[in-house]
Amino acid sequence: MCGIVGYIGKREALPILMDGLRRLEYRGYDSAGVAVLNGDLHVVKAVGKIASLDQALSDLTIPGTNGIAHTRWATHGVPSEENAHPHIDCHGKIALVHNGIIENYSELRESLKVAGHIFRSETDTEVLVHLVEHLLNFPGTTLADAVRSAVRRIRGTYGIAAFRLLEPEQIVVARLGSPIVLGVGDGEMLVASDANAIIGHTRQVVFLDDGEMAVLTADGYRVSSLDNLPVKKSPEQIDWNVEDAQKNGYAHFMLKEMHEQPEVMRNSTRGRLDVTNGNAILGGLRDVADRTREIDRLIIVGCGSAYFAAQVGEYMLEEYAGIPVEVELASEFRYRKPIITARTAVLAVSQSGETADTLAAIREAKMKGALTLGIVNAVGSTIARETDAGVYNHAGPEMGVASTKAFLSQATVFALLTLFLGRQRQMSVTTGTRIAEELARIPDLVAGLLARQDEYRTVAEKYSWAKDFFYLGRKYCAPLAFEGALKLKEVSYIHAEGYGAGEMKHGPIALIDETFPSIVLCPEDSVYEKTKSCIEELRARRGKVIAITTEGNQEIRQIADDVIFIPKTLEMLTPLLAIIPLQLFAYHMSVLRGFDPDRPRNLAKSVTVE
Ligand code: M6R
Repeated sequence: MCGIVGYIGKREALPILMDGLRRLEYRGYDSAGVAVLNGDLHVVKAVGKIASLDQALSDLTIPGTNGIAHTRWATHGVPSEENAHPHIDCHGKIALVHNGIIENYSELRESLKVAGHIFRSETDTEVLVHLVEHLLNFPGTTLADAVRSAVRRIRGTYGIAAFRLLEPEQIVVARLGSPIVLGVGDGEMLVASDANAIIGHTRQVVFLDDGEMAVLTADGYRVSSLDNLPVKKSPEQIDWNVEDAQKNGYAHFMLKEMHEQPEVMRNSTRGRLDVTNGNAILGGLRDVADRTREIDRLIIVGCGSAYFAAQVGEYMLEEYAGIPVEVELASEFRYRKPIITARTAVLAVSQSGETADTLAAIREAKMKGALTLGIVNAVGSTIARETDAGVYNHAGPEMGVASTKAFLSQATVFALLTLFLGRQRQMSVTTGTRIAEELARIPDLVAGLLARQDEYRTVAEKYSWAKDFFYLGRKYCAPLAFEGALKLKEVSYIHAEGYGAGEMKHGPIALIDETFPSIVLCPEDSVYEKTKSCIEELRARRGKVIAITTEGNQEIRQIADDVIFIPKTLEMLTPLLAIIPLQLFAYHMSVLRGFDPDRPRNLAKSVTVE
């Protein structure tokens, strides 16, 4: 999604802004632009990759120590130079970048046009800069005053950075529903929508909350509410560094992040597994432990891969913790009338912690009096801050648009949560110990599977002709089928559908012929015989089958065209292993078809609009 970077200080702004934009590329965008102040306001924009913006800047010299920049992911208006940010006012004296959506932009635009403002783009954002210009006409009004009044007149969401020729020593930023993080340097300040853009310069950051704005100067920052009351905010330290957000020799972030998974799992479980007591030590839940003991229903909300990880969690929690669990698409939850009682907890799962739908769901739940919990990767993100309590994944920054290590770490945290909530209920110490011991073994097994990636590439090569795939699984493997299909769609643009294996015979099997292969998750678990029958049914209709089964199972070889083996583990932990070949299969398919798996078309890493 859109990204913001800004700099004010002693150094040249442009190289810092361009570096920041490159670090935001992973989020997905279709155009980019910069604005720098140096006695004049210089704005340069380009459609396409940052390289196009580099090209547009190549013959220009733009000195200046105050600048703002943006990557745009189109919502209102096609990707074009006119629609790219920064947007400027009628006289080219104010520049503004914006993430989010202004819902009442049409009416504002019409009234500003009547007042004589000339619009150059089709975007919702442009109304903001004209509105600021309009408000600055009132004598004695500063840019901060005008931004404050402007945002009070809009409906929708925003993260904004703006500056002005007549007040060149400052950048004004504001936030409602779209993240803004300030970077505090030595004689310089940075601002970004995502800490990745600025951690190369400082790891001291301040996260703005909704309804807050700030004025940045080279010497510091001043945060206030939209009522212009001062808000005291001290910087916090970010605990990851630039290297964590680089490829380190891997061809793609997606590949690097898949290979990080053994370490990610160790980080997610480090200090949290209490094998002796068959329990999990979750510091983030300590303060609400009395309440989690009392809950009689858990609703889990998430989107995309987080939603599928939540379904894995649902099976674990119901089977071992004995809690009724419902998993909801976050985008649906808030528009239903969810029944929430004082003993309901609502748990948000989100890698970024900024997904608009998930955030809205958690706010709705909070408003209705639920205990709100989070499983979040991005430390300090909005969902992490707004939930009552939660557990961090500790997966490190995920740059690939396709969720890989985040998914695995979410499923891992669900296993920990199962221990925690299970031991608060009927789970015996013996069962808990068995799960904890097995969970501790999984990172090495994941490493073993990753080492066999050539096998998965060979299978991908064999099926690279296919235009459609079914992904099928049952019980713990059903959500994995959904996740596997999502991965393939996202990075290789092949049509893939995930189904519960038992559901095939109720309709989808009509599609099967020799051109429509299926990947069937068929480990030797409690539903093995049922899933095996599904394979037989596919074969009877000439469907090709790639089976993923347990090491040593020779029987499946007789009925499947290709077999991928995973080690034996507890049924509830099978998804943590079976996901690895699915991820690598999708990755290799993408590369074989000539695509960049890190930058899937039309997708954004973090979906911060509804
Ligand atoms: O940051 P979140 O975990 O809240 O993101 C949720 C989804 O947008 C995300 O999982 C998306 O589906 C990924 N592209 C999946 O690979």
